Amino acid sequence: MTLLLRPNRHWQGFTAGQHINVSVEINGIRVTRSYSLSDAPRADGRIAITVKAVEGGRLSRHLCDDARVGDVVGIGPAFGEMTLPSTGSGPLLFLAAGSGITPLMAMLRSVAALGMPRPLTLVYWARIAGEFCFAEELRGLAARHADFKVHFVLTRADARLPDESQGRVSEQQLSTLVPDVAQRHVYACGPGGFVESVRALLASRASSFKSEAFTPLPRVVEEGGTVQVTLARRGQTLLVPRGQSLLAALEDAGLNPASGCRMGICNTCACGKRSGTTRHLHTNTTQSEPVSALRLCVSSAASDLVLDL
Ligand code: FES
Repeated sequence: MTLLLRPNRHWQGFTAGQHINVSVEINGIRVTRSYSLSDAPRADGRIAITVKAVEGGRLSRHLCDDARVGDVVGIGPAFGEMTLPSTGSGPLLFLAAGSGITPLMAMLRSVAALGMPRPLTLVYWARIAGEFCFAEELRGLAARHADFKVHFVLTRADARLPDESQGRVSEQQLSTLVPDVAQRHVYACGPGGFVESVRALLASRASSFKSEAFTPLPRVVEEGGTVQVTLARRGQTLLVPRGQSLLAALEDAGLNPASGCRMGICNTCACGKRSGTTRHLHTNTTQSEPVSALRLCVSSAASDLVLDL
């Protein structure tokens, strides 16, 4: 579902490909999540987010099922580095998996609004055909612009489809769909595993490569047991499991620290650490410097900690 929001005078604008944090109070608790802006900057100043209602997703369910025209929601400034340079030439290749289509759709619409000045191919993966967003619009754009091509690929095998239109991303599939892939400037967005596969296939081959993962790669952290986390400002000490993100651990303890993307991109959950060792859940590296900043969503406690919370 696409929602149009009318920002107030504090809004500083955005570039296609960026995201915002959206906050709504639901049953007395402020819930914040990140959404990609799915349209290019519009003449009427409104901004669009496209939301999929996910199982157990409090905010996505609220926005899809309960939100009404005229409701007021909180939004933060736009963030994200995966944007098109204002100048540049050479053919583009957008690779989208699942909800990774939303920022790429904004970028595609902004290129289309300029009359498609650069050849652009989009390859878009989904589990089943019903999960493709914007399918009609994408086919319409391809019919109107000779320089735009779209390929829909189902990740679930389907004997009725040619090989290149089914299955997870592979070298053979990409070479068939996009024979000049080495000349392309590539932008990829989707789940962590998809982005890592595409990076391994193309980062050193393509003209340039930019990507953004919507879900972090699952990391197995071997450490067991619990540690003490002291929240210095609250004067509270909690026992939290090693290996769990500090954000999830604090939420499990009934606290509601500020958060947005929950994957280390938006910085909303950043807080000061006064002492102790943390482990970065994406890179598995530890950080022991006293008086430093960390992001709760991608950090776990590797020793007792004192946080500025
Ligand atoms: S919630 Fe966005 S960086 Fe942690």
